[in-house]
Amino acid sequence: MSIHYDEKTRQLILETRNTCYQMRIDETRYLKHLYYGPKLGQTDMTYPFRIYDRGFSGNPYDMQDNRAYSLDSMPQEYTSYGVGDFRINTITASYSDGSRCAEYRYVSHEITEGKYRIPGLPSVYDNGDNVHTLTVTLADTASNISVRLYYGVFEDLDIITRTAEIINGGDETVWLRKAASVCLELPFGKWDMIHFHGRHCMERQPERVPLFHGIHTISSGRGMSSHQHNPFIVLCDRKATEDSGSCYGMMMMYSGNHKTEVELDQFDGVRAVMGLNDERFRWELMPGTSFHTPEVILTYAEGLTRMSHNYHRVINNNVVRGEYKLSHRPILVNNWEATYFDFNEEKLVEIAAKAAELGMELFVLDDGWFRNRNDDKAGLGDWTPDTQKLPDGLGRLIRKINALGLKFGLWIEPEMVSENSDLYRRHPDWALTAPGRAPMMARNQLVLDMSRKDVRDYLFDAISEILKNNNIDYIKWDFNRPLSDVYSNSTPAEKQGEVPHRYYLGFYELYERLTDAFPHVLFEGCAGGGGRFDAGVLYYSPQIWCSDNTDPISRLRIQYGTSFGYPQTTVAAHVSASPNHQTGRRTPLSTRAVTAMTGAFGYELDLTKLSEEECDEIKAQIKRYKEVEDVIRDGDFYRLSDLEDSSRFVCWEHVSRDKSRCMVSIVVTDPLANAATVHVKLKGLDPEALYSVGGEFECLGSALMENGYTFMQLLGDYPALQLDICRVK
Ligand code: DGJ
Repeated sequence: MSIHYDEKTRQLILETRNTCYQMRIDETRYLKHLYYGPKLGQTDMTYPFRIYDRGFSGNPYDMQDNRAYSLDSMPQEYTSYGVGDFRINTITASYSDGSRCAEYRYVSHEITEGKYRIPGLPSVYDNGDNVHTLTVTLADTASNISVRLYYGVFEDLDIITRTAEIINGGDETVWLRKAASVCLELPFGKWDMIHFHGRHCMERQPERVPLFHGIHTISSGRGMSSHQHNPFIVLCDRKATEDSGSCYGMMMMYSGNHKTEVELDQFDGVRAVMGLNDERFRWELMPGTSFHTPEVILTYAEGLTRMSHNYHRVINNNVVRGEYKLSHRPILVNNWEATYFDFNEEKLVEIAAKAAELGMELFVLDDGWFRNRNDDKAGLGDWTPDTQKLPDGLGRLIRKINALGLKFGLWIEPEMVSENSDLYRRHPDWALTAPGRAPMMARNQLVLDMSRKDVRDYLFDAISEILKNNNIDYIKWDFNRPLSDVYSNSTPAEKQGEVPHRYYLGFYELYERLTDAFPHVLFEGCAGGGGRFDAGVLYYSPQIWCSDNTDPISRLRIQYGTSFGYPQTTVAAHVSASPNHQTGRRTPLSTRAVTAMTGAFGYELDLTKLSEEECDEIKAQIKRYKEVEDVIRDGDFYRLSDLEDSSRFVCWEHVSRDKSRCMVSIVVTDPLANAATVHVKLKGLDPEALYSVGGEFECLGSALMENGYTFMQLLGDYPALQLDICRVK
C-alpha cells in the first residue's frame, strides 16, 4: 500500500517507488506539510522543525502561549485565510455577513484503492496499475465550509496528483474568490524556478531564475493555457542539472486561466500555490454544493531528465486515451502552408497525389474549406463546405483522396464565430460580448460561449454531421484568439465570475462527447500553434500542433522547452518550405526532417513544387521515420545539449526501453570553421553492452556515456545528422 497512516505520530505518508510525501495532523489539527522528496527510509520527518520564536508572526488563539507556533511560518497542505498566515494562500471565500476568514483544520481521512476522478474535468486516470487515493477532509467550523484534499498516488510512476473539493455545508451562499488546487512547500533549501514562457510562434521557452524574497507569478488570464506561460513549473535546487539535483515538477491539467505563485518567505521557506487564476474567478457556492478544482500533477526526481521522463510516462500512459495512445500516428501532409486560403479541389488532389506517391498516409485539409472562407474575415460557425472551392462538397474530394490510398483529415475551429456568418446573424447572443461595449476583435472573430448548452449542442450536431457523413480519420481542432469581453448572455449577473471556468467545463464536455461518439478519429489540438498545449487538451487529443513557427531552427528551441513536461508523441511537427514562411530562413530539407522527426511527424508545403531530388529525399525520410518511429514513440528522450550549447548546436537522443536501439539527432546552428569539436556524452545506454555506432565502429555503452562521442565536422547551412546506435552484444 502506497499510503499509510501512523497513529502514533499522526502522520500521513504517501510513497511511490522513489519518493516519499509526508504530512502531519498537528496538535491543533492543522495539516502540516513535512516532506516531499526522495525516499530515505526515515518515516518521521518532523525532526528538522525546531522551535524558533517567530516575532511578529501571530499565534492561533488556542496556541497563544506558544510564540513559536505560527501559521505564518508553518508549511501546510492547504492554507487558511485571514487568520495569521500572511503568505500566499490557496482559498478565499466571502460569507453573507461580509467576513472572509477561514481556518481549515483536520476532520478525517480515508484511503481507497484506485484513483479518484474529478466531475467534469480531465484528470490522470488509473490503468488498473498500482494507484491509491488519500482523501483528507479539513473544515472551517465558523463558516461551515469544508475542503476535501485528494491525493492520487501512482506508485510505479513517481507521480502524485492533487485536487481540492470545496463544500458548502452551511445554509447560506458563499462566494469563492480563489480556489487553488495545490499548495506545495519546500521549507528548507535554496531553489531555482524554471518556467516556460513565450509568445505566438515562440512557445515554451525555458527560463531559470533563482527565487528571490517575494512572490513570483506565472499566469494566464487569456482564457487559454496560453503561448505566454505554460501551466507548468519546475522547482529545482540551485545546482540541479539534467542528471542530478532535486527537481519538483508542478503541472496543471487545465486549458484555461491559471496561476502559479511561488513565494520565498521571510524565513527562506518556499510556498508554491497552483490553480485557477483568481483574478478572473468568482463562484457562487450554494448551500449543499461543492466546487472541484482542476488537477495538478506533481513529481519529484533527481535531475531534470528523470523528472521529464516521469511526465512523459504519465502523459503517454495515463493521460492520453483512445486508439492512438502509444500507436502509430499517420504521417500527414497539411495544405495550410502550401495554399493558405487559396485552393480548389484540383489543387488539393494534386498535392494529395504527390503525398501518396512519396509515402505519406493522411491528407489534412486546413482552414478555408467552408462557406465564405476566402480569408480570415468570414465563415467561422457555418460548418458547411464552400461549393466554389469544392463543387461537390467534401464527399467527392474525400473519395478522390481515399482512392489515392490516403486517409483524410479536416480542420475546424469550433469555439469561434465570425461576425460575417449565418450563425452569428442567427445567434449574436451566443458570442461572448459584454453589454454596451464593442468587443475586442482578434483575427476578425469572436468566441462562442461554451458555457451554454445550446451552443455546445449546435457544435456537437454540426461536427457530428460532418463526421457521420464523410470518411474522416483526423480532426485538427484550432482556437485562434484569446477570450476577452467574457460575459455570458445566458448567465445571471451574480454568476458572471463563473463564466471563464464554465467555458472550460463546456469545452471539455463537448470534446468528451465528440471523442466518445467518434472513437476512430485522431484529434489534434491547436491554438494558433501551441497556445493551448497542456495536459487538459491531451486528455482528448493525443497530439497538439506545437507552434505556428515551422522554421526548424526556431523549432529546436520550442521543442526543447516543450520536452521538459510533454512527451514527443504529443508534439506535432512538420517539414515546411524553405525559405521558411515565418522567419524567411533557408534550411536544408534534411535539417527540417531531422527536427520534425522528434514528434508526430508530417509535411506542410506544396509538394507539387518539389524537384525530383527533393522527392527522393522525402521518400527516404518517410522510410526512415517508419524505421525509427517506435524508438521515438516508446523510448526515452534525452536532451544532450542545453540552451547555452544551442548557439552552436542542439542534440537529443531517443533510446528504446530495452536499450538495444538509440538514435542521436543533431542540428548545428552555427557551423564555425576550426571550431571546438561537437562532443556529447550519450545517456540511457546499457553500460556493459557493446554497440555499433553509426555502422562505423563498436564501443561499450559505458564509454559512450562517460567518454562521449565526437561528431564529424558538420559544415554548411544548418547541417543535421541522425546517428544510429545499435546493441550488438
Ligand atoms: C492557426 C494554426 O496554428 C495553423 O496551423 C492553421 O491551421 C491556421 N490557424 C488556420 O487558420
